[in-house]
Amino acid sequence: MSTATKGLEGIVAAQTAISFIDGINGRLFYRGIDINELAEHSTFEETTALLWYGDLPTRKQLDSFRRKMVENRLVPNEIIALLLLLPKKTTPMGVLRTAVSALAPFDPETGDNSLEANVHKSIRLTAAMPTIVAAWERIRNGLWPVTPNAQLDHAANFLYMLTGKEPDPAAARVLDQCLILHADHGLNASTFAARITASTLSNLHSSIVSAIGTLKGPLHGGANEQVMRMLLEIGNLDRVEQYMRGAFAAKKKIMGFGHRVYKADDPRALWLRRLAESLANSSGNRRWYEMSERIREIVQAEKPLPVNVDFYSASVYYTLGIPIDLFTPIFAISRVAGWTAHVYEQYSDNRLIRPESEYIGPMNVPYVPIDERE
Ligand code: ACO
Repeated sequence: MSTATKGLEGIVAAQTAISFIDGINGRLFYRGIDINELAEHSTFEETTALLWYGDLPTRKQLDSFRRKMVENRLVPNEIIALLLLLPKKTTPMGVLRTAVSALAPFDPETGDNSLEANVHKSIRLTAAMPTIVAAWERIRNGLWPVTPNAQLDHAANFLYMLTGKEPDPAAARVLDQCLILHADHGLNASTFAARITASTLSNLHSSIVSAIGTLKGPLHGGANEQVMRMLLEIGNLDRVEQYMRGAFAAKKKIMGFGHRVYKADDPRALWLRRLAESLANSSGNRRWYEMSERIREIVQAEKPLPVNVDFYSASVYYTLGIPIDLFTPIFAISRVAGWTAHVYEQYSDNRLIRPESEYIGPMNVPYVPIDERE
């Protein structure tokens, strides 16, 4: 009988004080604060400060934090030059992974692994990642990147850098709430990847590169793009039932459903559902929202699968006019707040993360000289 735990299910691999998931009751807390409170009242900048420093900032602390984020939005010209060299077909997640890696030697504290230096690096990285994603969107469309707008908050500035136009404040607030909702989530796969890299005492940038590569996959952050592709493939409400029956018959996984930890619906998904509904109403296009509702009804009648964060975020981003392959990069520009908080936590009480494997291959196989092999 195997002693391996496939997918490490149920294994507690770290202690954390950053976020807590109550998977049975469908609740999520950052530093003890309910995610619903944060989505309602906070901003991405304030939530990031909460995750990094452990407490909600005072007004003065938040002002200073926001200023530092604004001051670090520009990326070195060499990074833009690097983006210009990449093939236009490079995925935005691939671009982000490459650019974050390339940013490391430009960071003035790259060789310093103290907590203070790592917080400085995290500010620079969190401020720069939206600039990279937006610059790539411009460059691949033959346009020059838009200089960040210091008057705008993090989320609004990202939308501004995509189009060069100041976004509608309501749309910017929706994106801000999405960033809050995605900022941390226990020991999810990408955060674990970041912590494994940090546990070797590799540096913060390397940890974030590992995390970006891990988030990209369709079983993790990449699912939001797949949800939108599914909605587009189905096309309209009348076709949902038939499509879902076909998907079940083919034993396809339905993107945006299922979760390793949640047994109840993911509370982030329920918030995103509200945002999807209000955007559907304000945009006058209820198609994606209504299709999503119908899909959820059919899936949950078939299997007791919780809806996860990636399901409604798809139609939210699409209705905001964001290109589909930027959905997962948006996840990354939020989750970097959690990844970096976990890197500090890992360094603060480090032990190399090194599980074992159960060997199931052959033993005592003789080495056959190359000329005698068949
Ligand atoms: N659609 C249909 N069936 C599903 C789904 C789904 N989305 N998710 C799980 N199941 C079924 C599996 O087929 C399996 O059934 P079986 O026991 O009859 O074989 C059972 O539920 C358990 O599924 P696993 O894949 O073993 O569960 P695991 O905990 O390993 O995976 C995961 C969790 C990867 C999220 C899975 O539910 C999935 O692939 N979902 C779709 C992709 C997705 O939405 N990912 C985003 C997750 S949230 C995030 O990472 C940000």
